[in-house]
Amino acid sequence: MTDRKSKDRFIIVSNRLPIKMEKEGTSWKVSSSAGGLVSALSPILKDRGGIWIGWTGATEPVGLRTCREILDKMSKEIGYRIFPVILNQEEVSLYYYGLSNEIIWPLFHDLPGLANFEPHYWKAYRNVNGKFARVVARHSKKDDLVWVHDYQLIPLARKLKELGVERKCVFFLHIPFPSPDIFMKLPWRYELLADLMEYELVAFQTAQDRKNFLSCLNSFSKKFKTYGRGPVVEVTDGNRTFKAAYIPISIDFKGFTTMAGAEKVHSILKQYKSRLHRKTVILGVDRLDYTKGIPLRLRAFQMALEKYPELHENVTLVQIVVPSREEVPAYSELKDKIEKLVSSINGTFTTPGWVPVHYMYHSVPKDELIALYRLADIALVTPLRDGMNLVAKEYCACKLDNDGVLILSEFAGAAAQMYRHALIVNPYDIEGVAEAILKGVSMPQREKKARMRSLRKNIREQDVFWWVNNFLRVAAGKTLVDFPEKEL
Ligand code: G6P
Repeated sequence: MTDRKSKDRFIIVSNRLPIKMEKEGTSWKVSSSAGGLVSALSPILKDRGGIWIGWTGATEPVGLRTCREILDKMSKEIGYRIFPVILNQEEVSLYYYGLSNEIIWPLFHDLPGLANFEPHYWKAYRNVNGKFARVVARHSKKDDLVWVHDYQLIPLARKLKELGVERKCVFFLHIPFPSPDIFMKLPWRYELLADLMEYELVAFQTAQDRKNFLSCLNSFSKKFKTYGRGPVVEVTDGNRTFKAAYIPISIDFKGFTTMAGAEKVHSILKQYKSRLHRKTVILGVDRLDYTKGIPLRLRAFQMALEKYPELHENVTLVQIVVPSREEVPAYSELKDKIEKLVSSINGTFTTPGWVPVHYMYHSVPKDELIALYRLADIALVTPLRDGMNLVAKEYCACKLDNDGVLILSEFAGAAAQMYRHALIVNPYDIEGVAEAILKGVSMPQREKKARMRSLRKNIREQDVFWWVNNFLRVAAGKTLVDFPEKEL
């Protein structure tokens, strides 16, 4: 599947492991995660005998021995080895909730006003990265490729070097990279840029993210020169040379279409259809996060109901909100805001037999989610900013009959690939989103199908395996394959 020589193992390092450990009474409950990254990387780890290193998700104290025993058992089940980084409560609070999610997360999503620039978070962030580096050093060999994921672990390559450990380290940023005027607000901006330069490859989701990164480098030092054009360029300051690329992540298209066509999903879909009495269904699925633009989306739906009475009793918004990062104050405030808006819309418009917003604050099993994707006439994906947004791609993959409309924010990374066939909106433009809802509801069947066919073709051709393969090709100094540069 990939082109790397078989002797080189992969070491995947991410904040979270592909499993989660939670304490239940006196024992530990371990669940495996079935996200896109896991399904893309697992086959490669199994083929080449690679390993995955990350935090267990546990905040309660757990001894290394107990933890290793539990994970060894899990490793046998999933077919490759996983090694834990054990974090204590203080580390979780300062490194994960603090620097990662109260500073980098809002700042990189263009929301500096929401950042809490607590000085002591920074030291903890670097120390915890040092802890990750020590686990990587212990479990990796010289020829291994260490593939580090996301903003929680930017300093990892440098931390390895400080330990005197030489490894080929490459990095993928799953979230956006902000423009210099935003990035420069970070008190530790130059340290973070210097950390990124320690990788042999730094890859982003979109051309715009890479452009922002290169502009930030330029304001760091005029010595930086960039060579080459297109998705992979070489950057040097005379001493150090590394590659900067953009390769958009995707989903396991075939996995989703297979599940969408399964009998189980079909019977759930039938139940949903009869319960919703053939109403036009609009679907929103998000983690509880202020970057997802849920309150503005609700206001747009409210405005659509105010402006277009023909939608009354005909359109239902199903909004799923998955709990997330509940300890960060901005997240609990957001929950209250969403719930007030939902009850205000329902209070104003509900009639016997019609509830305009069906709101769920919990995660939904995968087959039920896929049935909802199949059911929904419209997906409303309106983040204020998003690295990619895989819901947009999952929704399209599941529309086996091409009968759905994707309304997509221009500020989602996915818009770079989907802008021609989705209805592109500015999520801050409440009236514009309301109009897009009406347009989606009344779109002629032929146009709907033509748009969805093209969206699905793109996702089928550039699925998550395409992403892994291309990332690893670039890491190995090879050219990209099947990369439709013009569309990006
Ligand atoms: C985003 C980030 C991931 C993160 C995920 C869930 O997709 O890019 O790195 O794992 O959100 O957030 P959590 O904080 O629960 O890991």
